[in-house]
Amino acid sequence: MRRLSEIGAAVIGSGFIGTVHIEALRRLGVRVHGLLGSTAERAAIRADELGLERGFASLEELLADDRVDVVHVTSPNHLHHSQVREILAAGRHVVCEKPLAMTSAESAELVRLAAGSGRVNAVNFNIRFYPLNQHVRELVAGGGLGDVRLVTGHYFQDWLLLETDWNWRLEPNRGGLLRAVGDIGSHWLDLMTFVTGQRISSVMADLATFIPMRREPDGPVETFSTERAAETVEREIETEDTATILLRFANGARGSVAISQLSPGRKNSLRYEVDGSSAAASWDSEQPDQLWIGHREHANEILIRNPALMGAAGAAASALPGGHVEGFADTFRSLFRAIYADVGNGGPADRPDYPTFADGHDEMLVGDAVAASSRAGRWCDVRREEHR
Ligand SMILES: NC(=O)c1ccc[n+]([C@@H]2O[C@H](COP(=O)([O-])OP(=O)(O)OC[C@H]3O[C@@H](n4cnc5c(N)ncnc54)[C@H](O)[C@@H]3O)[C@@H](O)[C@H]2O)c1
Repeated sequence: MRRLSEIGAAVIGSGFIGTVHIEALRRLGVRVHGLLGSTAERAAIRADELGLERGFASLEELLADDRVDVVHVTSPNHLHHSQVREILAAGRHVVCEKPLAMTSAESAELVRLAAGSGRVNAVNFNIRFYPLNQHVRELVAGGGLGDVRLVTGHYFQDWLLLETDWNWRLEPNRGGLLRAVGDIGSHWLDLMTFVTGQRISSVMADLATFIPMRREPDGPVETFSTERAAETVEREIETEDTATILLRFANGARGSVAISQLSPGRKNSLRYEVDGSSAAASWDSEQPDQLWIGHREHANEILIRNPALMGAAGAAASALPGGHVEGFADTFRSLFRAIYADVGNGGPADRPDYPTFADGHDEMLVGDAVAASSRAGRWCDVRREEHR
């Protein structure tokens, strides 16, 4: 078992989320040897700004550095598949951002390659690692809610509300054919499978594009940026701004979710409620240290995150005592701690306690069903059998 300080990492991409990866790794004591950017110059500048020893000029150069055991892929979506392939071929462990790939054929290939490599393969569904979500999973698995019957919620943001809002995610060849669903809906859908322990078996989806023309700025735009460019070009938009989806789960539970990137005032609001036959649990990502637990026969409860009052998994995901609010960036630390335990052991455990490529692929298959359902205007099953 290698200690965290003996493990080396490198990060591809240093935009919004690459920076969060780097900070979380440093917090754990993992050595981040450098980063790869869109160009060698950009990588050198970002490495300097973030206090890293170097920017790599290419993926080849990164993989030639034998101090790098793990590579984190935080580039735009269309690059994940080819970069992960190269990383696995070079015998390194991989942590890839969601979505794992652009298509389920690509993600199926990555699952196969990862399994053959014996390397740790993780997908960054970090929201699972809010301590209270780990707690809800344990609560459900232990029968604390009874049988899961109804799973509802939303994932709303407002950063693509205006026709002048722009990001690479709006371009299908860089972001994928599903946008709101692939970008944020995938987190909600994965989280619900995680907390309930039930896969999604079929969906009835309605996708809508309310802004069919957007104004693309002439230069590059940072994710979540609110700056306005003077020069813009009109672009047709093919991907969805919103989605409303009915769900059926493997155990017969029903669900519904609304997903939107143009809900005024909602910056990053993921909410869910799981209604069981004896109790319910509800959580809101903008109040992540509070869990509502609903009862019929006695007063409802609010559990404030507290390692002393949660199950083992919730306590393990907590870094701080109760009352010291933990948030988004802390989930990366807890998720990476779980992943790097396997890295320290040289390969994945039989049943990893973090999301793997198999989970990333399953999410792609759910996405396929969502797209097919929206096109056909009917229920569609998630087709797992063809991808075994
Ligand atoms: N898990 C989460 O909560 C979460 C949150 C945000 C983004 N993401 C995912 O992370 C990825 C990046 O999103 P972001 O918001 O950070 O985007 P971003 O645009 O802010 O950053 C992307 C980075 O990739 C770099 N890049 C572009 N082309 C490259 C290339 N050829 N080689 C290497 N690097 C290149 C860019 O320079 C930039 O640093 C996406 O896949 C997204 O879905 C996940």
